[in-house]
Amino acid sequence: MQKGVTTLGRFLLEEQRKYSYASGEFTAILEQIAFVAKVIGRDVNKAGLINILGQTGSTNSHGEEQQKLDVYAHTKVIQALDHLGKVFAMASEEEKEIIHIPEKFPKGKYLVVFDPLDGSSNIDVNISIGTIFGIFKKKSESEAATIQDFLQPGKNLVASGYVIYGSSTMFVYTTGNGVNGFTLDPSIGEFLLSHPAMKMPEYGQIYSANESNSSSWKEEVVAYIDCLRNYPERKYTSRYIGSLVADFHRNLLKGGVFLYPEDKQYPQGKLRLLYEIIPLAFIAEQAGGSATDGENNIMDLVPKSLHERTPVVIGSTFEIALYQQFIKEGIRKRKKKFAKSGKSTLEKAIREPVI
Ligand code: AHG
Ligand code: MN
Ligand code: MN
Repeated sequence: MQKGVTTLGRFLLEEQRKYSYASGEFTAILEQIAFVAKVIGRDVNKAGLINILGQTGSTNSHGEEQQKLDVYAHTKVIQALDHLGKVFAMASEEEKEIIHIPEKFPKGKYLVVFDPLDGSSNIDVNISIGTIFGIFKKKSESEAATIQDFLQPGKNLVASGYVIYGSSTMFVYTTGNGVNGFTLDPSIGEFLLSHPAMKMPEYGQIYSANESNSSSWKEEVVAYIDCLRNYPERKYTSRYIGSLVADFHRNLLKGGVFLYPEDKQYPQGKLRLLYEIIPLAFIAEQAGGSATDGENNIMDLVPKSLHERTPVVIGSTFEIALYQQFIKEGIRKRKKKFAKSGKSTLEKAIREPVI
């Protein structure tokens, strides 16, 4: 379909026609998420003028200061979905418990998990932020959703995606048939196809990590970053925005790797498995990349709670494979192996074919 003139609505319709099994049920959900993205984007773009900057003075279920825009976006997403009759229940970063559909509205068969506003620390300083979402089919037959409905692995997702409120507002999603990106044309208020069939390059030259945490990273992780910095074939550069969606989106387009490994402050990793990492892992995989917690493929992990945190390395296949080799082999073994063969320095050690 043609870039620049195909609206998201038309694209969803034609995708639905392509796949006979596509009930179109979650099409309505995706359309509503795109709608609320326009609302949030409109207010993000003038946040300095309306009273939605700064902190609410309350904390969320993680004890993190809630920004007004976090709560605003959270409320807007719920209002956009709760009356559709397509959603069974929701889970949000900003709400400790399951969000049930009010009695007055019909329930559907889909679960929506979401991070209403990702990169909150960047709101007040006008740096790109985002919204992340994932859609599962409910599992239980009960009247009301239970936690079991939400504790599903990424491979059960029927759709996932994100919105990035950056120099432009983009809606990027997958239903398991590739990844497509749409850019908002504010003059007509429509998301138009701008990035059809997005593919993550097999390798990149960018790594994204908060290196101020490196003093408490495992030595394999420190060695991995050191290896990228000294990679003989190409110069890696560091880019870290502090908004997962923005760092991920840049790496999706240009190739590279984002990592938030476990550290002293976050021994389980900082990022949330269910509504930040699993939805982005689906996008990464559908675009030809992958995501791991260091040992496992993220798409195989079954969350143990709504807000479970996980270490994450997500991006191009080369950088992920190299990371897994460092973790699997352990740095001591690597040095010993290469000391024996005369290639004593770590930099030379990485010249071994990794994939
Ligand atoms: P959120 O604003 O939804 O809490 O997410 C913030 C996350 C993520 O966007 C980003 O990659 C990470 O926190 C940055 O963490 P540090 O500031 O610790 O680097
Ligand atoms: Mn987030
Ligand atoms: Mn958030």
